[in-house]
Amino acid sequence: MAETAKITIGGKTIDLPVLKGTTGPDVVDIRKFYAESDAFTYDPGFTSTASCESKITFIDGDAGILLHRGYPIGELAEQSSFLEVCYLLLHGELPTASAFTDFEHNITYHTMLHEQFDRFFQGFRRDAHPMAIMTGAVGALSAFYHDSTNVDDPEQRMISAHRMIAKMPTIAARAFKYFRGQPFVHPRNDLSYAENFLRMCFSVPAEDWKPNPVLTRAMDRIFILHADHEQNASTSTVRSAGSSGANPFACIAAGIACLWGPAHSGANEEALNMLMEIGTVDRIPEYVQGVKDRRYRLMGFGHRVYKNYDPRATVMQKTCHEVLAEVGDSDDPLLKVALELERIALSDEYFIERKLYPNVDFYSGITLRALGFPPEMFTVLFAVARTVGWIAQWKEMIEDPAQKISRPRQLYTGATHRPYVAVEKRG
Ligand code: CMC
Repeated sequence: MAETAKITIGGKTIDLPVLKGTTGPDVVDIRKFYAESDAFTYDPGFTSTASCESKITFIDGDAGILLHRGYPIGELAEQSSFLEVCYLLLHGELPTASAFTDFEHNITYHTMLHEQFDRFFQGFRRDAHPMAIMTGAVGALSAFYHDSTNVDDPEQRMISAHRMIAKMPTIAARAFKYFRGQPFVHPRNDLSYAENFLRMCFSVPAEDWKPNPVLTRAMDRIFILHADHEQNASTSTVRSAGSSGANPFACIAAGIACLWGPAHSGANEEALNMLMEIGTVDRIPEYVQGVKDRRYRLMGFGHRVYKNYDPRATVMQKTCHEVLAEVGDSDDPLLKVALELERIALSDEYFIERKLYPNVDFYSGITLRALGFPPEMFTVLFAVARTVGWIAQWKEMIEDPAQKISRPRQLYTGATHRPYVAVEKRG
Protein backbone atom coordinates (compact mmCIF):
# COMPACT_ATOMS: atom_id res chain seq x y z
CA MET A 1 0.00 0.00 0.00
CA ALA A 2 1.24 3.47 -0.89
CA GLU A 3 2.69 5.31 2.11
CA THR A 4 0.94 8.44 3.37
CA ALA A 5 1.93 11.17 5.81
CA LYS A 6 -0.63 12.63 8.19
CA ILE A 7 -0.97 16.20 9.38
CA THR A 8 -3.55 17.04 12.03
CA ILE A 9 -4.67 20.64 11.99
CA GLY A 10 -7.79 22.27 13.44
CA GLY A 11 -8.97 18.87 14.66
CA LYS A 12 -8.86 17.39 11.14
CA THR A 13 -6.33 14.80 9.99
CA ILE A 14 -5.22 15.09 6.41
CA ASP A 15 -3.59 12.19 4.54
CA LEU A 16 -0.83 13.26 2.22
CA PRO A 17 0.68 10.88 -0.38
CA VAL A 18 4.40 10.16 -0.05
CA LEU A 19 6.17 10.17 -3.41
CA LYS A 20 9.30 8.08 -4.03
CA GLY A 21 12.08 9.12 -6.38
CA THR A 22 14.64 6.73 -7.88
CA THR A 23 16.98 7.84 -5.08
CA GLY A 24 17.08 10.65 -2.51
CA PRO A 25 14.60 11.63 0.19
CA ASP A 26 10.89 10.80 -0.10
CA VAL A 27 8.64 13.75 -0.87
CA VAL A 28 5.36 14.50 0.89
CA ASP A 29 2.87 15.67 -1.74
CA ILE A 30 1.12 18.69 -0.25
CA ARG A 31 -0.62 19.86 -3.43
CA LYS A 32 -4.11 19.25 -1.98
CA PHE A 33 -3.17 20.40 1.53
CA TYR A 34 -4.55 23.95 1.27
CA ALA A 35 -7.81 22.81 -0.30
CA GLU A 36 -8.36 20.29 2.49
CA SER A 37 -7.03 22.21 5.50
CA ASP A 38 -7.32 25.92 4.64
CA ALA A 39 -3.70 26.26 5.81
CA PHE A 40 -0.43 26.88 3.98
CA THR A 41 2.97 25.33 4.62
CA TYR A 42 5.86 27.69 5.43
CA ASP A 43 9.37 27.20 4.05
CA PRO A 44 11.30 30.39 3.23
CA GLY A 45 14.36 29.54 1.16
CA PHE A 46 12.83 26.16 0.23
CA THR A 47 14.97 24.23 2.72
CA SER A 48 12.45 21.36 2.92
CA THR A 49 10.56 21.82 -0.32
CA ALA A 50 10.88 19.98 -3.65
CA SER A 51 9.68 22.55 -6.18
CA CYS A 52 9.48 20.15 -9.15
CA GLU A 53 10.06 16.63 -10.42
CA SER A 54 13.31 16.28 -12.38
CA LYS A 55 15.42 13.60 -14.09
CA ILE A 56 18.45 15.79 -14.79
CA THR A 57 20.74 16.19 -11.76
CA PHE A 58 20.93 14.45 -8.41
CA ILE A 59 22.82 15.67 -5.34
CA ASP A 60 23.38 13.80 -2.10
CA GLY A 61 24.77 16.64 -0.03
CA ASP A 62 25.63 14.49 3.01
CA ALA A 63 27.63 12.01 0.95
CA GLY A 64 29.13 14.69 -1.36
CA ILE A 65 27.67 13.11 -4.53
CA LEU A 66 26.69 14.96 -7.71
CA LEU A 67 25.28 13.00 -10.67
CA HIS A 68 24.21 14.32 -14.07
CA ARG A 69 21.68 11.91 -15.63
CA GLY A 70 23.25 9.29 -13.32
CA TYR A 71 26.91 9.95 -14.22
CA PRO A 72 29.23 11.17 -11.39
CA ILE A 73 30.64 14.67 -11.91
CA GLY A 74 34.22 13.42 -11.30
CA GLU A 75 33.97 10.91 -14.17
CA LEU A 76 32.42 13.46 -16.51
CA ALA A 77 35.09 16.05 -15.64
CA GLU A 78 37.92 13.55 -16.24
CA GLN A 79 36.61 11.63 -19.25
CA SER A 80 34.01 13.70 -21.07
CA SER A 81 33.92 17.12 -22.74
CA PHE A 82 31.70 20.11 -22.04
CA LEU A 83 29.75 19.73 -25.29
CA GLU A 84 29.15 16.04 -24.58
CA VAL A 85 27.86 16.99 -21.10
CA CYS A 86 25.60 19.59 -22.77
CA TYR A 87 24.13 16.84 -24.96
CA LEU A 88 23.72 14.58 -21.93
CA LEU A 89 21.90 17.23 -19.91
CA LEU A 90 19.61 18.18 -22.79
CA HIS A 91 18.82 14.71 -24.14
CA GLY A 92 19.22 12.42 -21.11
CA GLU A 93 21.79 10.08 -22.70
CA LEU A 94 25.42 10.32 -23.79
CA PRO A 95 25.50 10.81 -27.58
CA THR A 96 26.54 8.21 -30.15
CA ALA A 97 29.51 9.33 -32.26
CA SER A 98 27.27 10.47 -35.14
CA ALA A 99 24.77 12.21 -32.80
CA PHE A 100 27.68 14.07 -31.23
CA THR A 101 29.01 15.17 -34.63
CA ASP A 102 25.57 16.57 -35.50
CA PHE A 103 25.28 18.29 -32.11
CA GLU A 104 28.74 19.85 -32.38
CA HIS A 105 27.84 21.09 -35.87
CA ASN A 106 24.58 22.60 -34.60
CA ILE A 107 26.34 24.47 -31.81
CA THR A 108 29.18 25.66 -34.03
CA TYR A 109 26.68 26.83 -36.66
CA HIS A 110 25.05 29.21 -34.16
CA THR A 111 28.12 30.87 -32.58
CA MET A 112 27.92 34.14 -34.52
CA LEU A 113 25.87 37.13 -33.36
CA HIS A 114 23.68 39.29 -35.56
CA GLU A 115 25.74 42.27 -36.72
CA GLN A 116 23.17 44.70 -35.21
CA PHE A 117 23.49 42.92 -31.87
CA ASP A 118 27.07 44.22 -31.50
CA ARG A 119 25.73 47.77 -31.21
CA PHE A 120 24.22 46.91 -27.83
CA PHE A 121 27.64 46.65 -26.27
CA GLN A 122 28.54 50.22 -27.27
CA GLY A 123 25.56 51.47 -25.23
CA PHE A 124 27.11 50.36 -21.95
CA ARG A 125 29.47 52.59 -19.98
CA ARG A 126 33.09 51.62 -20.58
CA ASP A 127 33.51 50.53 -16.94
CA ALA A 128 30.30 48.44 -16.86
CA HIS A 129 30.56 45.17 -14.93
CA PRO A 130 30.54 42.33 -17.51
CA MET A 131 27.61 40.73 -15.64
CA ALA A 132 25.55 43.90 -16.17
CA ILE A 133 26.28 43.55 -19.89
CA MET A 134 25.42 39.83 -19.84
CA THR A 135 22.07 40.38 -18.13
CA GLY A 136 21.05 42.99 -20.69
CA ALA A 137 22.55 41.36 -23.77
CA VAL A 138 21.11 37.87 -23.23
CA GLY A 139 17.63 39.29 -22.62
CA ALA A 140 18.04 41.24 -25.87
CA LEU A 141 18.45 37.98 -27.83
CA SER A 142 14.64 37.68 -27.70
CA ALA A 143 14.49 40.69 -30.00
CA PHE A 144 16.54 38.89 -32.66
CA TYR A 145 15.13 35.36 -32.75
CA HIS A 146 11.36 35.74 -32.86
CA ASP A 147 10.92 32.15 -34.09
CA SER A 148 12.61 30.79 -30.93
CA THR A 149 10.28 32.68 -28.63
CA ASN A 150 7.47 30.20 -29.42
CA VAL A 151 7.81 28.03 -26.30
CA ASP A 152 5.06 25.64 -27.45
CA ASP A 153 7.06 24.34 -30.44
CA PRO A 154 9.46 21.52 -29.40
CA GLU A 155 11.69 22.12 -32.42
CA GLN A 156 12.02 25.81 -31.59
CA ARG A 157 12.76 24.91 -27.97
CA MET A 158 15.72 22.81 -29.14
CA ILE A 159 16.88 25.51 -31.58
CA SER A 160 16.79 28.10 -28.80
CA ALA A 161 18.86 25.70 -26.63
CA HIS A 162 21.46 25.41 -29.41
CA ARG A 163 21.44 29.14 -29.98
CA MET A 164 22.06 29.97 -26.36
CA ILE A 165 24.77 27.35 -25.73
CA ALA A 166 26.48 28.56 -28.92
CA LYS A 167 26.13 32.30 -28.45
CA MET A 168 26.93 32.61 -24.73
CA PRO A 169 30.73 32.33 -25.23
CA THR A 170 30.57 34.95 -28.00
CA ILE A 171 28.53 37.35 -25.82
CA ALA A 172 30.73 36.69 -22.76
CA ALA A 173 33.94 37.27 -24.75
CA ARG A 174 32.50 40.53 -26.11
CA ALA A 175 31.59 41.66 -22.57
CA PHE A 176 35.22 40.95 -21.61
CA LYS A 177 36.67 42.73 -24.66
CA TYR A 178 34.46 45.75 -24.09
CA PHE A 179 35.53 45.87 -20.44
CA ARG A 180 39.18 45.66 -21.55
CA GLY A 181 38.79 48.24 -24.31
CA GLN A 182 39.89 45.80 -27.01
CA PRO A 183 38.28 45.01 -30.39
CA PHE A 184 35.85 42.08 -30.61
CA VAL A 185 37.18 38.77 -31.93
CA HIS A 186 34.79 36.69 -34.06
CA PRO A 187 34.21 32.95 -33.38
CA ARG A 188 36.07 30.33 -35.40
CA ASN A 189 34.23 27.13 -36.28
CA ASP A 190 37.32 24.91 -36.55
CA LEU A 191 38.11 25.30 -32.83
CA SER A 192 36.66 23.41 -29.87
CA TYR A 193 34.12 25.16 -27.61
CA ALA A 194 36.67 26.04 -24.90
CA GLU A 195 39.43 26.89 -27.40
CA ASN A 196 37.14 29.19 -29.36
CA PHE A 197 36.11 30.96 -26.16
CA LEU A 198 39.70 31.45 -24.92
CA ARG A 199 40.74 32.75 -28.34
CA MET A 200 37.82 35.22 -28.47
CA CYS A 201 38.88 36.46 -25.01
CA PHE A 202 42.64 36.62 -25.40
CA SER A 203 43.44 37.27 -29.08
CA VAL A 204 44.25 40.85 -30.04
CA PRO A 205 44.82 42.14 -33.58
CA ALA A 206 48.55 42.48 -32.85
CA GLU A 207 48.94 38.97 -31.46
CA ASP A 208 46.86 35.82 -31.91
CA TRP A 209 46.12 33.69 -28.85
CA LYS A 210 48.42 30.65 -28.68
CA PRO A 211 46.55 27.36 -28.16
CA ASN A 212 47.57 25.53 -24.99
CA PRO A 213 46.02 22.05 -24.45
CA VAL A 214 46.42 22.18 -20.64
CA LEU A 215 44.66 25.53 -20.34
CA THR A 216 41.99 24.58 -22.89
CA ARG A 217 41.28 21.35 -21.02
CA ALA A 218 41.10 23.30 -17.73
CA MET A 219 38.58 25.75 -19.24
CA ASP A 220 36.51 22.86 -20.59
CA ARG A 221 36.59 21.14 -17.19
CA ILE A 222 35.54 24.35 -15.41
CA PHE A 223 32.58 24.55 -17.80
CA ILE A 224 31.67 20.90 -17.00
CA LEU A 225 31.86 21.54 -13.24
CA HIS A 226 29.38 24.41 -13.52
CA ALA A 227 27.03 22.93 -16.14
CA ASP A 228 24.12 22.16 -13.82
CA HIS A 229 23.39 21.90 -10.11
CA GLU A 230 19.83 20.77 -9.47
CA GLN A 231 17.28 23.36 -8.23
CA ASN A 232 19.73 26.08 -7.12
CA ALA A 233 18.64 29.74 -6.86
CA SER A 234 19.31 30.73 -10.49
CA THR A 235 17.80 27.52 -11.91
CA SER A 236 14.70 28.00 -9.76
CA THR A 237 14.58 31.57 -11.05
CA VAL A 238 14.72 30.32 -14.66
CA ARG A 239 11.96 27.76 -13.97
CA SER A 240 9.89 30.37 -12.17
CA ALA A 241 10.27 32.91 -15.00
CA GLY A 242 9.52 30.20 -17.58
CA SER A 243 6.44 29.00 -15.73
CA SER A 244 4.55 32.05 -17.01
CA GLY A 245 5.38 31.13 -20.61
CA ALA A 246 8.14 33.76 -20.91
CA ASN A 247 10.53 33.15 -23.82
CA PRO A 248 13.75 31.20 -23.15
CA PHE A 249 16.12 34.16 -23.69
CA ALA A 250 14.21 36.24 -21.11
CA CYS A 251 14.26 33.29 -18.69
CA ILE A 252 18.03 32.79 -19.01
CA ALA A 253 18.55 36.55 -18.51
CA ALA A 254 16.58 36.20 -15.23
CA GLY A 255 18.86 33.29 -14.25
CA ILE A 256 21.95 35.40 -14.97
CA ALA A 257 20.62 38.20 -12.76
CA CYS A 258 20.13 35.77 -9.87
CA LEU A 259 23.50 34.11 -10.41
CA TRP A 260 25.27 37.47 -9.97
CA GLY A 261 24.64 37.57 -6.20
CA PRO A 262 27.58 36.92 -3.82
CA ALA A 263 25.80 34.02 -2.08
CA HIS A 264 25.57 32.23 -5.46
CA SER A 265 28.21 32.53 -8.16
CA GLY A 266 29.63 35.83 -6.95
CA ALA A 267 31.35 33.78 -4.23
CA ASN A 268 34.38 32.89 -6.38
CA GLU A 269 35.21 36.58 -6.81
CA GLU A 270 34.68 37.07 -3.07
CA ALA A 271 36.81 34.01 -2.27
CA LEU A 272 39.71 35.37 -4.31
CA ASN A 273 39.33 38.81 -2.68
CA MET A 274 39.39 37.08 0.70
CA LEU A 275 42.59 35.15 -0.12
CA MET A 276 44.22 38.40 -1.30
CA GLU A 277 43.09 40.19 1.85
CA ILE A 278 44.61 37.44 4.02
CA GLY A 279 47.73 37.62 1.83
CA THR A 280 50.07 35.40 3.85
CA VAL A 281 49.74 32.15 5.76
CA ASP A 282 50.66 33.75 9.12
CA ARG A 283 47.53 35.96 8.96
CA ILE A 284 45.13 32.99 8.69
CA PRO A 285 44.50 32.42 12.44
CA GLU A 286 43.49 36.08 12.90
CA TYR A 287 41.17 35.82 9.89
CA VAL A 288 39.60 32.57 11.10
CA GLN A 289 38.97 34.23 14.48
CA GLY A 290 37.05 36.99 12.67
CA VAL A 291 34.86 34.30 11.05
CA LYS A 292 34.17 32.75 14.45
CA ASP A 293 33.34 36.20 15.87
CA ARG A 294 30.83 36.40 13.00
CA ARG A 295 32.40 39.54 11.56
CA TYR A 296 32.42 37.90 8.10
CA ARG A 297 32.05 34.50 6.43
CA LEU A 298 34.73 32.29 4.95
CA MET A 299 33.95 32.72 1.26
CA GLY A 300 34.09 29.55 -0.85
CA PHE A 301 33.09 27.54 2.22
CA GLY A 302 29.73 26.03 3.12
CA HIS A 303 26.82 25.09 0.93
CA ARG A 304 23.07 24.88 1.31
CA VAL A 305 23.09 21.28 0.06
CA TYR A 306 26.61 19.87 0.58
CA LYS A 307 27.30 19.04 4.18
CA ASN A 308 30.44 17.23 3.01
CA TYR A 309 33.29 18.06 0.60
CA ASP A 310 31.76 19.50 -2.62
CA PRO A 311 32.76 16.90 -5.28
CA ARG A 312 33.31 19.77 -7.73
CA ALA A 313 35.87 21.30 -5.34
CA THR A 314 37.98 18.11 -5.54
CA VAL A 315 38.24 18.42 -9.34
CA MET A 316 38.72 22.19 -9.11
CA GLN A 317 41.61 21.84 -6.65
CA LYS A 318 43.37 19.40 -9.05
CA THR A 319 42.70 21.69 -12.03
CA CYS A 320 44.07 24.61 -10.02
CA HIS A 321 47.39 22.78 -9.46
CA GLU A 322 47.61 21.85 -13.17
CA VAL A 323 46.94 25.40 -14.38
CA LEU A 324 49.35 27.02 -11.93
CA ALA A 325 52.09 24.53 -12.93
CA GLU A 326 51.44 25.24 -16.64
CA VAL A 327 51.65 29.03 -16.26
CA GLY A 328 54.71 28.70 -13.99
CA ASP A 329 52.88 29.88 -10.87
CA SER A 330 53.10 26.79 -8.65
CA ASP A 331 54.50 29.01 -5.90
CA ASP A 332 51.53 31.39 -6.05
CA PRO A 333 51.26 32.69 -2.46
CA LEU A 334 47.45 32.65 -2.75
CA LEU A 335 47.50 28.87 -3.38
CA LYS A 336 49.57 28.46 -0.21
CA VAL A 337 47.04 30.57 1.73
CA ALA A 338 44.13 28.54 0.24
CA LEU A 339 45.66 25.15 1.08
CA GLU A 340 46.53 26.19 4.63
CA LEU A 341 43.16 27.85 5.20
CA GLU A 342 41.43 24.67 4.03
CA ARG A 343 43.63 22.53 6.30
CA ILE A 344 42.91 24.70 9.35
CA ALA A 345 39.18 25.00 8.67
CA LEU A 346 38.76 21.25 8.14
CA SER A 347 40.32 20.54 11.53
CA ASP A 348 38.60 23.35 13.46
CA GLU A 349 35.58 22.49 15.64
CA TYR A 350 33.63 25.61 14.50
CA PHE A 351 33.65 24.44 10.87
CA ILE A 352 33.33 20.70 11.64
CA GLU A 353 30.27 21.26 13.83
CA ARG A 354 28.55 23.29 11.08
CA LYS A 355 29.67 20.88 8.33
CA LEU A 356 31.41 23.66 6.42
CA TYR A 357 33.63 22.34 3.62
CA PRO A 358 35.23 24.05 0.62
CA ASN A 359 32.79 24.49 -2.26
CA VAL A 360 33.58 24.76 -5.99
CA ASP A 361 34.28 28.48 -5.64
CA PHE A 362 37.13 28.11 -3.17
CA TYR A 363 39.72 27.15 -5.82
CA SER A 364 38.03 28.48 -8.95
CA GLY A 365 39.06 32.11 -8.36
CA ILE A 366 42.82 31.31 -8.21
CA THR A 367 42.47 29.04 -11.27
CA LEU A 368 40.56 31.57 -13.37
CA ARG A 369 43.01 34.31 -12.44
CA ALA A 370 45.88 32.08 -13.60
CA LEU A 371 44.00 31.50 -16.88
CA GLY A 372 44.11 35.30 -17.37
CA PHE A 373 40.60 36.35 -16.30
CA PRO A 374 39.97 39.32 -13.95
CA PRO A 375 37.56 38.69 -11.03
CA GLU A 376 34.77 40.58 -12.82
CA MET A 377 34.68 37.75 -15.40
CA PHE A 378 34.35 34.84 -12.94
CA THR A 379 30.57 34.96 -12.69
CA VAL A 380 30.34 35.47 -16.45
CA LEU A 381 32.19 32.17 -17.02
CA PHE A 382 29.82 30.47 -14.59
CA ALA A 383 26.89 31.84 -16.61
CA VAL A 384 28.36 30.52 -19.88
CA ALA A 385 28.63 27.03 -18.35
CA ARG A 386 25.30 27.06 -16.48
CA THR A 387 23.32 28.08 -19.58
CA VAL A 388 22.94 24.43 -20.61
CA GLY A 389 21.67 23.47 -17.13
CA TRP A 390 19.20 26.35 -17.12
CA ILE A 391 17.91 25.54 -20.58
CA ALA A 392 17.68 21.77 -19.90
CA GLN A 393 15.69 22.48 -16.72
CA TRP A 394 13.53 25.04 -18.53
CA LYS A 395 12.77 22.49 -21.29
CA GLU A 396 11.96 19.81 -18.74
CA MET A 397 9.57 22.19 -16.99
CA ILE A 398 7.75 23.17 -20.21
CA GLU A 399 7.40 19.47 -21.14
CA ASP A 400 6.11 18.45 -17.66
CA PRO A 401 2.30 17.99 -17.71
CA ALA A 402 2.19 18.83 -13.96
CA GLN A 403 3.77 22.23 -14.61
CA LYS A 404 1.89 25.26 -13.29
CA ILE A 405 2.79 28.94 -13.01
CA SER A 406 5.03 29.41 -9.93
CA ARG A 407 2.86 31.21 -7.42
CA PRO A 408 3.92 30.77 -3.79
CA ARG A 409 1.72 31.98 -0.94
CA GLN A 410 2.77 33.73 2.27
CA LEU A 411 2.40 34.06 6.01
CA TYR A 412 0.90 37.53 6.17
CA THR A 413 1.89 39.57 9.25
CA GLY A 414 1.01 43.08 8.05
CA ALA A 415 -1.94 45.32 8.95
CA THR A 416 -5.40 43.86 8.62
CA HIS A 417 -8.27 45.70 6.92
CA ARG A 418 -8.43 49.37 7.94
CA PRO A 419 -10.19 52.41 6.44
CA TYR A 420 -8.35 54.98 4.33
CA VAL A 421 -7.73 58.31 6.14
CA ALA A 422 -7.54 61.53 4.10
CA VAL A 423 -4.15 63.32 4.36
CA GLU A 424 -5.52 66.35 6.27
CA LYS A 425 -6.94 64.05 8.94
CA ARG A 426 -3.74 62.09 9.57
CA GLY A 427 -2.06 62.89 12.92
N1 CMC B 1 31.67 30.89 6.88
C1 CMC B 1 31.39 30.85 8.20
N2 CMC B 1 30.25 30.37 8.71
C2 CMC B 1 29.35 29.91 7.86
C3 CMC B 1 29.56 29.90 6.46
C4 CMC B 1 30.78 30.40 5.99
N3 CMC B 1 31.05 30.43 4.67
N4 CMC B 1 28.49 29.37 5.84
C5 CMC B 1 27.62 29.05 6.81
N5 CMC B 1 28.14 29.38 8.02
C6 CMC B 1 27.53 29.15 9.34
C7 CMC B 1 26.43 30.17 9.65
O1 CMC B 1 26.94 31.27 10.33
C8 CMC B 1 25.51 29.34 10.49
O2 CMC B 1 26.06 29.25 11.77
P1 CMC B 1 25.08 29.24 13.08
O3 CMC B 1 24.25 28.00 12.96
O4 CMC B 1 26.01 29.24 14.24
O5 CMC B 1 24.26 30.49 12.99
C9 CMC B 1 25.58 27.95 9.88
O6 CMC B 1 26.88 27.87 9.27
C10 CMC B 1 24.52 27.68 8.83
O7 CMC B 1 24.54 28.75 7.90
P2 CMC B 1 23.34 29.14 6.95
O8 CMC B 1 23.53 30.54 6.45
O9 CMC B 1 22.04 28.80 7.61
O10 CMC B 1 23.55 28.10 5.77
P3 CMC B 1 22.90 28.20 4.34
O11 CMC B 1 22.71 26.83 3.89
O12 CMC B 1 21.72 29.09 4.31
O13 CMC B 1 24.06 28.95 3.51
C11 CMC B 1 25.65 29.52 1.90
C12 CMC B 1 24.70 28.44 2.41
C13 CMC B 1 26.36 29.00 0.64
C14 CMC B 1 24.87 30.80 1.51
C15 CMC B 1 26.69 29.84 3.02
O14 CMC B 1 27.39 28.68 3.39
C16 CMC B 1 27.64 30.95 2.63
O15 CMC B 1 27.32 32.14 2.80
N6 CMC B 1 28.87 30.59 2.12
C17 CMC B 1 29.80 31.55 1.63
C18 CMC B 1 29.42 31.96 0.23
C19 CMC B 1 29.77 30.87 -0.78
O16 CMC B 1 30.87 30.33 -0.77
N7 CMC B 1 28.82 30.62 -1.70
C20 CMC B 1 29.04 29.70 -2.80
C21 CMC B 1 28.11 28.53 -2.80
S1 CMC B 1 28.70 27.29 -3.96
C22 CMC B 1 28.36 27.92 -5.49
C23 CMC B 1 26.99 27.63 -5.94
O17 CMC B 1 26.59 26.45 -6.00
O18 CMC B 1 26.30 28.63 -6.28
